[in-house]
Amino acid sequence: MKTDVLVVGGEGDLALRKLYPALFALRQGGWIDGDMRIVAVARKSLTQEAFTTQVTAWYADQGGETGSAEWQSFLGQLVYASLDATTADAMSELRRRHLSDSERELVVYLATPPQIFAPVCHAMDAAGLVRDNMRIVVEKPLGDDLESFRSINADLTAIFREDQVFRIDHYLGKETVQNLMATRFANAFLEPLWNNRYVDNVQITVAESIGAGGRWDFYDRAGAMRDMVQNHLLQILCIVAMEPPAHLAPDDVRNEKRKVLSCLRPMDDHIVRENTVMGQYTAGAIGGKPVPGYLEEEGASPKSVTETFVAIKAEIDNWRWAGVPFYLRTGKRLQRRMAEIVVEFKDVPHSIFGQQMAQCCGNRLIIRLQPDEIIRLEMLNKQPGLGEDLPLRSVSLDLSFQSDGESAPDAYQRLLLDVLRNNPTLFVRADEVEQAWRWIDRIQEAWARLGRHPQHYIAGSWGPSAAYALIARDGRSWYESAR
Ligand code: BG6
Repeated sequence: MKTDVLVVGGEGDLALRKLYPALFALRQGGWIDGDMRIVAVARKSLTQEAFTTQVTAWYADQGGETGSAEWQSFLGQLVYASLDATTADAMSELRRRHLSDSERELVVYLATPPQIFAPVCHAMDAAGLVRDNMRIVVEKPLGDDLESFRSINADLTAIFREDQVFRIDHYLGKETVQNLMATRFANAFLEPLWNNRYVDNVQITVAESIGAGGRWDFYDRAGAMRDMVQNHLLQILCIVAMEPPAHLAPDDVRNEKRKVLSCLRPMDDHIVRENTVMGQYTAGAIGGKPVPGYLEEEGASPKSVTETFVAIKAEIDNWRWAGVPFYLRTGKRLQRRMAEIVVEFKDVPHSIFGQQMAQCCGNRLIIRLQPDEIIRLEMLNKQPGLGEDLPLRSVSLDLSFQSDGESAPDAYQRLLLDVLRNNPTLFVRADEVEQAWRWIDRIQEAWARLGRHPQHYIAGSWGPSAAYALIARDGRSWYESAR
């Protein structure tokens, strides 16, 4: 099927940094045709040439090779139109000039703030751009609580069917997140162990070394809870915790994720006080370089109490996971960029190795999303030698699916290709987003009621001391893997 792409907000950061490079990579991989038209619209008055120069500059900045004939030919697919996408006349003109063939499928990417989703959708509708063979892609922030999400969603679904709306969570496009599904559901040996009889706890860490500088205002309105936990961390938790879906069909997978979200134990004030930690970074150093505190970033308001770090002990009330804590943490300006899922297994029921077992670490499955993509199983075996008492050591089995030299595609390549293929498996359904907001809203409301303020942590550390206390209280510790 022939498809065209319309990017609204076509000269913004997301489009330049992620969408065009991903579309080019798909073109290079032979996934999309040279005759696909990629129409970028934005208000800024730019000539076609100035636009393609900008696209080229951003791609080169990321280390992309822009001297090739293939790149030049890709630029030929791009069309820039300077217009106000919220007006029906402008959109009618756009349709007439560039998107008049209604036999071709159309993917519209709204790379804009959600406040203008509704006027853009109405303008498209009035301009006759809305049709059955069209899909619309949106990305967070989709509201800042359940109510605002519902209102944004109502605007979209007033014009589009749910199956036409593709809500991106780019973490679902990361290769290792999909590998986790393969590891869980394509191997018989893991499934019998994947429950509260054998798993002691699960830790999900998404640590960033960057700060909020450059987008301080936006970040300050969200905070780590809305920016990262509501979406990325909860989506990862769902993939770890969900039941095996009957098929890989989109709704089978999304139904299972939705069930996990509805089993998350609701947080009351007492649980929030005990099981959540908020932090905010102060000046420190990362990789030997001094960095400012959150309140000293450019454009910062010195009184902000927005959290740049969150740690949560979450519990899933169902048969599989009853009693297994899921520890989540995420933050800006942490020691290094690292996203990892760690599944820690229980000790053997009886040790014949005495104290050694207590000293060695037990079995762990480590699934690293970034900076590199690794799946590793830590096990104990015998140190070679003639020692009488069978000395133990910890060894790692590398289960990574990537061989040397293979590089994983960027999340946006995967997700854009899935939109083009009309496969919504890796996109978040409205009821999942609602359920996630329901859980998050209760925490935010309790924080407000309890007058909770973030605890300070030094940039370059692993977060406030309370995050260590949260897990130490249960006799456990955060797993901090070597690089
Ligand atoms: C975005 C957040 O969704 O994810 C950013 O808004 C964050 O604050 C980013 O930096 C992290 O994504 P990645 O892929 O770099 O881990």
